[in-house]
Amino acid sequence: MQVGTAYLCSHEATTSPLHRAALQSPEGRHTALTRLFSGRPARGIVNRLMRELGPLNPAAPAFPLATAGIAPLRAAAEAKGLSDFTPLWSGQNAATARSLSAADITQEMVTAWR
Ligand SMILES: Cc1cc2nc3c(=O)[nH]c(=O)nc-3n(C[C@H](O)[C@H](O)[C@H](O)COP(=O)(O)O)c2cc1C
Repeated sequence: MQVGTAYLCSHEATTSPLHRAALQSPEGRHTALTRLFSGRPARGIVNRLMRELGPLNPAAPAFPLATAGIAPLRAAAEAKGLSDFTPLWSGQNAATARSLSAADITQEMVTAWR
């Protein structure tokens, strides 16, 4: 069993405020596999870059060049508080990403499974 997304908004996580906001907004329900941010497929919340280029656009630079390629746009957008060019990694269960301690998140999962 692996659990990832449920901890992304935990107190201990280093997830950015923009990423946390996306996870906890209605946008978090819409994810897709994308190559745009690293050059390899990973699942993230659909944002402007993914919508406008298509998440698996073959023109994306190969791994690991895509990360550096998008960096200037990402930095400029993030400086304005926009996550349009930011990788918003998430599984298909962003609603489980709650702002609690990792211990409390774990305890709630254990309780729910019992
Ligand atoms: C921030 C983040 C980074 C991840 N990085 C990888 C990765 O490098 N390789 C991989 O196979 N899965 C990666 N995953 C996916 C995890 O394997 C996945 O979260 C796990 O299967 C649990 O699924 P869940 O996030 O829906 O709980 C990542 C997930 C997150 C949230």
